[in-house]
This record gives sequence, structure tokens and C-alpha cells, in this order.
Amino acid sequence: MSSLSNKRIILGVTGGIAAYKSAEIIRRLQDQGAEVRVVMTAAAEEFIRPLTMQALSGNPVHSQLLDSEAEAGMGHIELARWADLLLIAPASADFIANMVHGRADSLLSAIHLATPAIVAVAPAMNQAMWAHAASVANISMLQERGVRIIGPDEGIQACGDVGPGRMQQPDAIVHNLGSLFQTGRLAGKKLVITAGPTREALDPVRYISNHSSGKMGYALAEAAIEAGANVSLISGPVAIAPPERCQFTAVESAQQMLNASLEAAADADIFIAAAAVADYRASSVAEQKIKKQGEQISISLEKNPDIVASVAQQTDCFVVGFAAETQDVESYARDKLARKNLHAIIANDVSRGDVGFNAEDNEVSWIDADSTKVFSKRSKAQLARDILEHMVNHHKL
Ligand code: C5P
Repeated sequence: MSSLSNKRIILGVTGGIAAYKSAEIIRRLQDQGAEVRVVMTAAAEEFIRPLTMQALSGNPVHSQLLDSEAEAGMGHIELARWADLLLIAPASADFIANMVHGRADSLLSAIHLATPAIVAVAPAMNQAMWAHAASVANISMLQERGVRIIGPDEGIQACGDVGPGRMQQPDAIVHNLGSLFQTGRLAGKKLVITAGPTREALDPVRYISNHSSGKMGYALAEAAIEAGANVSLISGPVAIAPPERCQFTAVESAQQMLNASLEAAADADIFIAAAAVADYRASSVAEQKIKKQGEQISISLEKNPDIVASVAQQTDCFVVGFAAETQDVESYARDKLARKNLHAIIANDVSRGDVGFNAEDNEVSWIDADSTKVFSKRSKAQLARDILEHMVNHHKL
């Protein structure tokens, strides 16, 4: 499974005969599920045409630092922030020296300074240049700063010399990049996650709902994306922005959430129901605003469909539910696990103020037919990663 799935990679191309191999690197990165944007130095454009790189990457090639049109679209700071990985391949001796000195005289060098992403460099140069004390010192300086150096290979060089300095082959570079990310456990899997509350209309201006913030479901979606999954997030109304890199469906009512869930889960591998679905909806929704009446009014409610149970019944997904309880947490959760025919259920005690509903942290138990695993209190983001890791390992998904 690829750990490059869903990753955003800037491929920086500098001037060298190996630049023609960068076209192949784009393809290999895409094969692993990565999105690639290409940044070329002026020298690189002498060796390979930007149009080739644009056509292969499916994105415009960036090359100018001081280009008002480019800065108005995706400027150097946006590009730097966009990336999970900056791969410079080939990296010429000159560009490596430029990096060592922290220069910002080209778009690529400015991105190198501005990016929080992992930086990897695949050097390519003549063997004598590679062996020079200045290059040796430059490489060791980059390594000290955490830059990953990939290669170079030994062999016959374009100039006829033999020795170390050839850029590694595209396959090998991409293979080496895989180890830079610890994730990738869910690459190739489709996950559907429900999150947030549902809103059940009473009339055109009023509804029944609950206090679910959506934080746990959104954290699970983020963690699954990070782990390389193809994620569909189906969410009721919440105050947080949807993660990038997912299929996002905004819904209001339980019925809408059910329809979206069944459709998305039909070809999914895993379904996680983190939504706080309203148990009941109005038996009929008034067409006009309900007028103030006497001291009391009654509204007739009827039961909503059980989304997670329907998905468990109608699809082949591995299905995980949540159980928010205020007492006898494990026994109620086990009962729900069986009743809804789930593979696992994540139980939490919502009687505590510091975890669960609306809180930043959570403490839960993962419960399946034959085991219980307690996850002590931690941030919802970390918990989401740990839950997915346990799910994949324990259930061999
Ligand atoms: O029955 P209860 O609401 O306690 O079950 C909680 C679990 O069931 C959660 O995973 C929730 O997302 C899911 N659920 C659902 N559809 C409902 C009610 C709950 O998917 N109508």
C-alpha cells in the first residue's frame, strides 16, 4: 500500500540532463495516488519543455517568482503551504548550493525557504562535481537540516565519465519517498464517515437538533485522508470547514443522511457512523410557520431510520458505530453492537464535561465481538489516528 496516496507533491526541476527523467517521476508519483505540481527553474526549461510537464501533471507549471498573474492565483507562499513534500529532482550542484545558502532568487528557492513540507533532493551532477569538497559539505549541511538526500547512483554519465552523480531512476526515487511518510495504511480503501447532528424540520423556520460539533467525525475524516484513504464525508450542519481532499456531502435531515450514506457506502470498504442522528422527526412538517398557540402544544414525532444499521444490513462494508452513553457504557455499547449488527462500536461516556460532546479531547473504548480496547484521554485528532490504526491492525483491513 502506498504512503504517497493523497499526498501533494511539488516536483522542483533544476537544470541538468536528468531533467528529462522528471517527466517519468510525475507519472510514477501519480501511480501512487499523489497530486503533483511542477516548479521549474529557468535552467530546467533549457532541458525539458514546461508544456510536457504541464500535460503530464495536469496542472500549470510554475516558474516565475515575480509574476503578478501567477501570484494572484497560486503564489509562492500558497504553493509552499499546499505541499506535503517538496522533491527536487534533478537537483543540480548549483541549486544545492543555493539551498544551503537559503537564497530566494527563484520561485523554487523561495518555496524551499517557505515550505513546512518534507524536503527531498535527488542530486544529479558530474562525478567530479559530486566529489568536490564544496558539494560534500553542502550535502552534509542539508542533511543536518533534515533534508532527505536520495541517491545519486553510480555509472556512466552524460559527459562520458564514470562514477557517482547520476540521478536515481524514477522508480527508485519514488520508492525511496514512500518511507518518508508513516501513513498509507488505508491507501486504496474507500471510507464513508457520517458526522455532526441532523436537523429535523418542524416548519420552514424551526427544527429539532442536538449539540454535536462534528469534531470527532471530521477528525476521523482527516486521519483517514492522511492514511491515504478515499474519503466521503457526509455531514449535518456544523461550524467547522470540511477537510480538503474528500468527497463532501452536506445534509440536514436523517433521511437525507441515510440516502447519501447508502449511495456512498455501496462501493465502500469501511463505514463509520460518527453522526449524532436525531432519533425522531416531526410526523408532518408544517408548510407555514407554526403560530403561537395556548400554554402547551404537542408535536407528533416519529422514529427516524437507523442509518448505521441500514448500511450494516445492505452493504458489505466493515461498519463501525459510536455509542455515547452516560452510564453502564460498555454493556449498552455491546447491546448496540449486536442490535445494529456492527463490526465494532466506539463507546464514550458523555456524562463527563472534559471529553466527548463538543470537547477537544475524547476518551473512548473500541468494542468488538471479542475484545475491548481502551483509548485514554487525548486530542480528537490523535485519537482518530489511533482508532484507525487499531481498526486496520486488529481487523486486518
Ligand atoms: O442508537 P444510538 O443513537 O445510540 O446509536 C448511535 C450510533 O448509531 C452512532 O454510530 C450513530 O451515528 C448511529 N445512528 C444512525 N442512525 C440513527 C441513529 C443512530 O446511524 N438514526
